[in-house]
Amino acid sequence: MQRISRRDLISSGLAFSATCLATRPVWAHAIAFHEGEAEASLAMVPREQLLFDFGWKFILGDGNDPMKDLGFGFGQNDFSKTGEFPFAKPGFDDSKWRTLDLPHDWAVELPFVHDDAGSGDSQLRSHGYKPLGRRYPEASVGWYRREFDVPTSDRGRRIWIEFDGAFRDVQVFVNGCYIGNNENGYVPFRLDLTDFLSYGAKNYIVVRVDARYGDGWFYEGAGIYRHVWLMKQDALHLGRWESTIRPTISGNSTTLTLGTIVENDGKKAEEAYVRWEILDAVGQTVATAEAPAQKVDAGGSAHFSASAHLSNPALWSIEEPNLYTAIVTVSVKDAVRDAERVNFGVRSVQFDAQKGFFLNGKSLKIQGTCNHQDHAGVGAALPDRLQYFRLGVLQQMGCNAVRTSHNMPTPEWVEACDRMGMMLMCETRQATSNPSGLAQLEAMVKRYRNSPSIIIWSIGNEENQLQGPMAEQGAAIAATMVHKCHELDPTRVVSAAVNADNRKGISDAVDLVGFNYHLDFPDAFHKDYPTRPIFGSETSSAVSTRGEYTTDWQRNVVDSYHGVYELPELWWKFYGERDWAAGGFAWTGFDYRGEPTPFGWPSVSSNFGIVDLCGFPKDYFYYYKAWWCPEPSLHLFPHWNWHGNEGTEIAVWVYSNLDEVELLVNGVSAGSQKVPHLGHLEWKVKYEPGAIEARGVKNGRVALSEKRETTGTTASLRLTADRTEVLADGEDVAVLKVEAIDREGRTVPVADDLIAFRVKGPGKLIGVGNGNPNCQESDKGSKRSLFHGLAQIIVQSTKNAGEIEIEAVKQGEDGQGSLSAKQTIASKQAKLRPSVPEAR
Ligand code: GAL
Repeated sequence: MQRISRRDLISSGLAFSATCLATRPVWAHAIAFHEGEAEASLAMVPREQLLFDFGWKFILGDGNDPMKDLGFGFGQNDFSKTGEFPFAKPGFDDSKWRTLDLPHDWAVELPFVHDDAGSGDSQLRSHGYKPLGRRYPEASVGWYRREFDVPTSDRGRRIWIEFDGAFRDVQVFVNGCYIGNNENGYVPFRLDLTDFLSYGAKNYIVVRVDARYGDGWFYEGAGIYRHVWLMKQDALHLGRWESTIRPTISGNSTTLTLGTIVENDGKKAEEAYVRWEILDAVGQTVATAEAPAQKVDAGGSAHFSASAHLSNPALWSIEEPNLYTAIVTVSVKDAVRDAERVNFGVRSVQFDAQKGFFLNGKSLKIQGTCNHQDHAGVGAALPDRLQYFRLGVLQQMGCNAVRTSHNMPTPEWVEACDRMGMMLMCETRQATSNPSGLAQLEAMVKRYRNSPSIIIWSIGNEENQLQGPMAEQGAAIAATMVHKCHELDPTRVVSAAVNADNRKGISDAVDLVGFNYHLDFPDAFHKDYPTRPIFGSETSSAVSTRGEYTTDWQRNVVDSYHGVYELPELWWKFYGERDWAAGGFAWTGFDYRGEPTPFGWPSVSSNFGIVDLCGFPKDYFYYYKAWWCPEPSLHLFPHWNWHGNEGTEIAVWVYSNLDEVELLVNGVSAGSQKVPHLGHLEWKVKYEPGAIEARGVKNGRVALSEKRETTGTTASLRLTADRTEVLADGEDVAVLKVEAIDREGRTVPVADDLIAFRVKGPGKLIGVGNGNPNCQESDKGSKRSLFHGLAQIIVQSTKNAGEIEIEAVKQGEDGQGSLSAKQTIASKQAKLRPSVPEAR
């Protein structure tokens, strides 16, 4: 049995060189090295899963006026006959529609609109002042159209269109026929196209997306913002998400309990059998199992099960995220009819009411962050690679777990967590046991139940009615949801994020008790319910604006020292120091659009992040790094550019995990202080231009030092890519940082120069950002101003290999460039993911 070590992962680009070292993230494409093997084993299988992302046409419709909405809903008879929707038939003129690739979020392309009508979550403020909703019908409906070929050889197969998630209220039409709909904006859904296709001919699919209603109270995007697939399967096939691989560890040996469901959509009964082949991380077969043949009736299904053993398996952990793959194959006689690849990991997870959390029998604090799913430049439509980038940023501060607040995540986020060793609390959007709520929960648990990263299912967040006046109903709803989770996945605990004392309502039914904020509740709860495990499901909400050191209600900025709400050290001293607490999740890892608390217009994104919308660290990042990472660390702030404030007293803070730190101001000691456990250090210093320096001492010797110097103005630019090689697959991206540099080569922490970007060669600029929650420049433009010296651009490959040349040019008052920086990215020929060919 071949083990995969952390070193292998590092050399293959799947991990960082140490849990917390600030090495920049390296990423391997979604089809990672060991999956090549698995793919080879699937090569003979008649299943085709084709990416359906490229070459769509798009136009905005109108939620009120049918005449601006392709005539849809104008009369009574739209749905009266089958096959008569003209926009989904040949000959329809879509020449004025724009061509684009998915994933796509049109909300991020819309202008910002100052509208504070309504209150609280009904305001545009929650959505980051993007004009979506019933009051903005002209910006809230989008139409996607695509032509595609279906060969005659596909006759007899089942053909599905599968959406990983689209926002929201989707209606699908094929060849003039209405096929079906899906309301929720986060849950994957699929529709069977088999009967509606023209075999050996062109087919037309149209997708109407209506984002007038929301699902949450934060920026949610609009459109087909996740991948779409065309799935072709034999009539006898594996049920969707029905394969389960459940490891039970006993000493050095692990038993895999294997199960799946075979469905027969064919016209005659079949004698089918199922085989499992288990591959290790480098694609070697380490076990096999077979379930004997069973009759599967026409139109029926049958459950198959077996078991296999692994001796001395390579466990999945946060340091070594070892994965295995099961190839599940259904055959009749000697003919393989369908097969799938399921990744899983071997690990044990335990929540103990007295001792906290254990992974593989080792005590571990959950050092978590809650995160929404949008990023600078691209809104909710993230290229897969950005998921890895974002997790990499969080890992650099020692974050070992993420909570997908408050919705089912995209598969690439979960896969990235599996591959990078990030634990996951996976949350459904609606806390309800109505049919739609249960279907959403079922989809989430079935889709992800083999992922080793997931340690907690969450059935909801802050359901105030269900904890308060409707506590009785809350307990009943939660009991049904928890039961559903246990039925589909008996291996994981179920929790909820509760902003109350957890003594009634939803809390009665959950396995693991989650407290949102309220550090005054858990101690008493633990005393009264000593058998119930506890964690902080959402904590802190410490707002800060990157690079700002004075709260200013005129400029909508929050200082980086005290912020507002619970400081990081307040909640971490609480959960970090109680053995019985499993740890917790800070609100939030990344800033996100919407909820610009404590402000409103013109602020458009949140200040809650430990890193900003681009992933640039704020000062709090270094608090976590100091106390969540074992490596010595030291961070000194603020910057030392306080022109006009000479003689003014300025607070100087240090986050460090060393023994003591001395501060020097222009070379003169301002005193040494011992570092308080889980705390910070603070000096008050009169400002004079020059330098401050922190010298951190460990075991009596200076271990680390850091300086902040008064810099000059921007004399040059620096452009740094997170990676200088991408895959020429039309999907991969490089993330580039732009920095202002002074004459001495120092970054200028106050620079706000406007920078223009040019991309030449086989690449395109797909988004720009700077992490400023008050910036209303377009994410989709080719210019961006720096915010406290920094901006970010995202460049995507095309399907052509070659050199992508990126240039950043500082704009003068005349709009002309004066300084520039260049970076070249090699886009390497890559095996393309199988996809639906684009129309010629
Ligand atoms: C919490 C809520 C989050 C976010 C946060 C802002 O109560 O769960 O989604 O709104 O407040 O402070």
